[in-house]
Amino acid sequence: MAKTVLGIIFGGKSTEYEVSCRSAYSVLENASKEKYDIVKIGVSRDGKWHVYRGPDEKIKDRSWINDTENLTKCFLSTDYGDHAVYETDKDGRVTRVPLDVVFPVMHGAYCEDGRLQGALDMSGIPYVGPGCASSAVCMDKAFTKLLLSNYGVPTAECVYVSRAELESDEDAVRSDVEEDLEYPVFVKPANSGSSVGITKVKEAKDLIPALKEAAKFDSKILVERAIVGREVEVAVIGNERPEALGCGEVIPGAEFYDYNDKYNDGKSVCVVPAKVRRSTWLNLKTLAEQIYSHLDCRGLSRVDFFVCDDEKTIVFNEINTLPGFTSISLYPQIAMSSGMKYSEVIDRLVALAFERREKESDE
Ligand SMILES: Nc1ncnc2c1ncn2[C@@H]1O[C@H](COP(=O)(O)OP(=O)(O)O)[C@@H](O)[C@H]1O
Ligand SMILES: [Mg+2]
Repeated sequence: MAKTVLGIIFGGKSTEYEVSCRSAYSVLENASKEKYDIVKIGVSRDGKWHVYRGPDEKIKDRSWINDTENLTKCFLSTDYGDHAVYETDKDGRVTRVPLDVVFPVMHGAYCEDGRLQGALDMSGIPYVGPGCASSAVCMDKAFTKLLLSNYGVPTAECVYVSRAELESDEDAVRSDVEEDLEYPVFVKPANSGSSVGITKVKEAKDLIPALKEAAKFDSKILVERAIVGREVEVAVIGNERPEALGCGEVIPGAEFYDYNDKYNDGKSVCVVPAKVRRSTWLNLKTLAEQIYSHLDCRGLSRVDFFVCDDEKTIVFNEINTLPGFTSISLYPQIAMSSGMKYSEVIDRLVALAFERREKESDE
């Protein structure tokens, strides 16, 4: 049987470039070589596309971009049904590289926020993960919360601040926040990830600096009540009938689960499966599957919660439509704890991508 040509897109013009490279390395290590011919498509930090034919290790350590021997510039064909990237060699010769399906192993802006998904929809190539609108809404923490509050999903009380408001009247912003919330609060950009731009603010004097920090990453900022609870994340897979596979708990090693704690020398601990009561797991499962459906997710997502008050209360925190796939990331760990091999997770995601594209082309 002919192999499926699987495009793995990695890198990207986002603050999560490094995480993406590490995630992609894990996917490359684990994807079945019998089933797939893999085309590695690297997007540089400044958003330039390349086909990369060098060793996977250079993706992991991010030196692939300097491995010019193995690198050719390429662009995605947005001609519907063409299903290819076109690479240009040093002499200007253009070659078509066909693709059957694509797994964007990328996170953050331009990658996970609907922009790439829109381009892939134009091309008609089946791809892993939710579509354009769903990705955009899920990436934006303000849109996600506003939408889910319509369905009665519990989330942390929040004040929305715009960069423009902050620039025009800091005192007014401070009093708006203090009218509705007590310290400590979490300040975060609406569109970000990997804790970039997020600050826990314990006293009034630190609020404005934290807002300015968040404003570096987005023009919309959330100020949330600090939730006291355990961080439990649920891995969901599927299209119209999503299935929550299991949950994992993150025990932050720092004041909160910040970037360093997530990916560098942090002391955070992940417990998979999370040690919660069976009734709590069933509530998490139902809520995660409902949230997935409300937000029109497809393929996969990781739905993150706080479990509070001795497991009596569950509060939604955020959803990640292309969650981390590094060797220590929770999504693959949870999926494996449910009995799947890492390679089977990839196979299932690829199958879901084909299934969705088939349905959509019928519409
Ligand atoms: N309202 C909150 N209450 C308590 N902790 C929070 C809150 N919001 C964020 N955090 C902490 O900050 C971390 C990162 O915030 P999160 O909203 O998950 O953004 P990101 O998309 O960057 O992961 C969380 O894992 C948690 O440790
Ligand atoms: Mg998070």
